[in-house]
Amino acid sequence: MTAATTVRDLIDRLEEDRELSLEQWERVFKEWTEEDRLYAAEKARRTALENFGNKIYIRGIVEFSNICKNDCLYCGIRASNKEVSRYRLTEEEILQCCDEGYGYGFRTFVLQSGEDRYFTAEILAGIVRKIKAAHPDCAVTLSVGELGYDEYKLLKEAGADRYLLRHETADKEHYGRLHPPQMSWEHRMRCLEQLMELGYQVGAGIMVGSPYQTERCLAEDMVFLGSFKPHMIGIGPFLPHKDTPFKDMPKGPYELTLFLLSLCRLMLPRVLLPATTALGTIRPNGREQGVLCGANVIMPNLSPTAVRKKYMLYDNKICTGDESAQCRSCLERRMAAIGYEVAITRGDHHDKICDIR
Ligand code: 5AD
Ligand code: FES
Repeated sequence: MTAATTVRDLIDRLEEDRELSLEQWERVFKEWTEEDRLYAAEKARRTALENFGNKIYIRGIVEFSNICKNDCLYCGIRASNKEVSRYRLTEEEILQCCDEGYGYGFRTFVLQSGEDRYFTAEILAGIVRKIKAAHPDCAVTLSVGELGYDEYKLLKEAGADRYLLRHETADKEHYGRLHPPQMSWEHRMRCLEQLMELGYQVGAGIMVGSPYQTERCLAEDMVFLGSFKPHMIGIGPFLPHKDTPFKDMPKGPYELTLFLLSLCRLMLPRVLLPATTALGTIRPNGREQGVLCGANVIMPNLSPTAVRKKYMLYDNKICTGDESAQCRSCLERRMAAIGYEVAITRGDHHDKICDIR
C-alpha cells in the first residue's frame, strides 16, 4: 500500500474485495473523517437496497427475565446491581407476547433474558416448542447468553432458528476490562463457534465506544466479523447505566456507530443488520439514520409494559413507556418517512453462495 492511500481508497477496496487487513482497518478507524463516513454510508445504503430493496425486517423482542448471574461491568441488570426490581415472565405471559406480536405482523420472536438459571435449557426448549407449535410460520431467536454445547443442541432441536450472542470485543485484553474475572473471552468465542456448528443463524456484535475500546480493538472486531461471517451483527453505542461501575464513562460516539454499520454492510452485503434500540436512544432518529447507513432490521419490544422499565441495560432506553401496538405503528411511520417499508416475513438470512454470507 502506498503512503498516498486514503481512507476513501480503503472504503473502495472494502466494497470491491469485501475485506481489509488488520492494519488497514486500524488506519480507517484512526484517520476517518465525516466525509469518509458519508461516502461509506452512501455505498452501504445502495448495497442494502440492492440486497433487500426498501424492505425492513422486524423482530419482536420478549425480555422475559432480568435476573442475571453475570456481572458485566457495563450492564444495568448485572447481578450486583441491587437497585433493579427483578422479574420473570411466566410461560403463559411469554406465549401471550408472541400471540400479540403475531397479530401485529411479527414473524420472528426474540426471547431475551439475563443469564437466569431458573430457565434451564429444558424449560426454554419447552417454551420454544410451544411457540413453534402455535406459530409454525415464525422464527424463534434466542438471546440468553452462554450455555453448553448440549444445551444449545437441545434448543436447536426444539426448533430455535437463530441465536444472538454479541462477542462484545474481539480483543481478549479488552474483554477482560469489560467483564469480571469469572467470565472468559475464550468461552464466549467457543459458544459462537458451537452455535454456528449446530446450524443456528448466528448474531455476533459489539458496543461502539465501550470503555477502553481502541481503534485497534475495532480493527480486530472487523477482522473477526469478516472471518466468522455471522448471519447477523448487533451494533449499538455504549450507553452508561447509573448503577454500574461505568456510570461516569462517556457514551459511545453516534457517528462512529453509523460508520461501523456502513462498514459491516460493505463487508458482508447480505448480513442482517439491526438499527438497534441503543442507536434510537442516543439520537431520536438514530434508527432511521441507521437504516439510511445500511441497516435493514429493527427490533422493537414486545414485552409487557409492566416490566419494560425493569429491563434497563443502560439509562434512558426508549419505548419503555409504550405498548407494543404503539411501537409497531410508530415504526411503520418512521420507516415510511424515509421511504422504507416494514415487511411481514421471517426475514431469514438467505444465501445460496456461502462465501458472501
Ligand atoms: N450500553 C449499550 N449496550 C449494552 N448492552 C449491555 N449493556 C449495555 C450498555 N450499557 C448490550 C450488550 C449485550 C446486549 C444484550 O446489550 O452488547 O450483548
Ligand atoms: Fe416504540 Fe416508536 S418504536 S414508540
